[in-house]
Amino acid sequence: MTHSKARRAAGAALVTLFIGTWGTAQIAQAQSPTPADKAIEYRQAVFKVVAGNFGPLAQSAQGKIELPAGAARKYAERLAAISEFTRDAFPEISREGGVKTKAKPEIWSDRAEFGKLLDDFNNATRALANVTVNGSAKPEDFKAAVGNVGNACKGCHDKFREK
Ligand code: HEC
Repeated sequence: MTHSKARRAAGAALVTLFIGTWGTAQIAQAQSPTPADKAIEYRQAVFKVVAGNFGPLAQSAQGKIELPAGAARKYAERLAAISEFTRDAFPEISREGGVKTKAKPEIWSDRAEFGKLLDDFNNATRALANVTVNGSAKPEDFKAAVGNVGNACKGCHDKFREK
């Protein structure tokens, strides 16, 4: 290859590289999540953490598993903390986006009712955390407190979450 041919080849390679990078950047931009998508994904992540901490408590209350000492308190305190996050997980922008959401539009048109269910949920998780605090809760008190939280989940899902 002559010197000038080599330079032309290198130049062509650079042009290809440039266009390639630019093209990839355009694709990345087209696929990158919008603020609405991010808000929906954030909410769904919060509820995954809710479920991740409530699951062991519910199974324990049903006698399906036996939690090691201190575990009920740990999960219940985490649940009470994460249930506070759900209050901020429904901003207007998260109504709809490119990511599929099961949140019903009534959440935003019936804020009063939805807010009441959020309060019920927060109160129920706080009460459950209080029951587990000294590790010597009576089984029936623990079961009742878990049941109240479960009802709060269901009450909201029945009304405000798509099937
Ligand atoms: C005040 C209303 C409300 C309460 C209380 C509530 N949820 Fe939900 N939950 C929702 C809504 C709305 C969605 C749909 C979110 C979406 O798709 O954007 C959801 C979604 C979920 C999801 C699916 C998350 C995902 O992967 O997309 C799980 C799991 C879940 N909730 C579990 C629970 C559990 C367990 C409780 C109780 C300990 C609970 N939720 C309490 C309203 C509620």
